[in-house]
Amino acid sequence: MKHLLKLMDLSTNEINEILNLADQLKFEKRNGIEHHHLKGKTLGMIFAKSSTRTRVSFEVGMYDLGGQALFLSSHDIQLGRGEPVEDTARVLSGYLDGIMIRTFKQSDVETLAEYGSIPIVNGLTDYCHPCQVLADLMTIREFKGNIKGRKLCYIGDGNNMANSLIVGGIKMGMSVSIGCPEGYKPDAEIMKWASENGDFTCTPDILEAAKDADVLYTDVWASMGQESEAEERKKIFDGYQINDSVMNVAKPDAMVLHCLPAHREEEITAKVFEAHAKEIFEEAENRLHAQKAVLVKLLKD
Ligand code: CP
Ligand code: NVA
Repeated sequence: MKHLLKLMDLSTNEINEILNLADQLKFEKRNGIEHHHLKGKTLGMIFAKSSTRTRVSFEVGMYDLGGQALFLSSHDIQLGRGEPVEDTARVLSGYLDGIMIRTFKQSDVETLAEYGSIPIVNGLTDYCHPCQVLADLMTIREFKGNIKGRKLCYIGDGNNMANSLIVGGIKMGMSVSIGCPEGYKPDAEIMKWASENGDFTCTPDILEAAKDADVLYTDVWASMGQESEAEERKKIFDGYQINDSVMNVAKPDAMVLHCLPAHREEEITAKVFEAHAKEIFEEAENRLHAQKAVLVKLLKD
């Protein structure tokens, strides 16, 4: 594993290795056991979009591992003024040990990896959000004891989260169902791959999608960069919500996850959100542990 650009690039074995290391690093952090695997290393963090979890968890993660992180807003570096990604990649490769990037185009992340000579981690693009799904899988295993054979149902926009959940879920042997409106389906190639490689369904009927689910998942109706569509999307996605009716058709002990930030009474009711806050905030914490595992795998000598 040289980079983390998208989950499709990882084998099931590599995902399992990351989850195992993440569990170990979580135990060490909780018990005050030093784990300075990246002493003297520096991670650059390029952000072209907002972030709370990704920014803080990567920065704290590098500190925990004995290294340091640099926050690089794309608005403040020359990348934001049009310096090509190809040049930014080669310049930063001379200073840094790794780069985490959150941006719009997946192709920019791939170009960074192609032209740079250091590991690149995708901290979210319009196409996918692999770090989030590694934390999600870690959380599912923590609460359910196992992942394989479980049913994961995602309700809402067929966005970056849906794309990564499908790939991560299928690679880990889950059955994956998507409940989303026509015209807002996940990436067509990912859905084709999922149908050919596992148990995958996509339907506009959310109760059908949620039936007997072990894990229910949702995300905002309008992602970063879609602010101008937000009002229109509220009408289109009306009803694509995790609420009591959805919970009633899922398994009685179903867990609920949300990558956050959450919009209560849009994609999830406040009632369901608060009833499952324990899982959702453990999931947020697990971003730290899962990403530290990724950083160790990629950056450790
Ligand atoms: N879930 C997630 O990536 O959160 P941030 O946008 O706050 O980083
Ligand atoms: N789909 C959301 C995820 C945020 C973590 C977005 O891209 O804004």
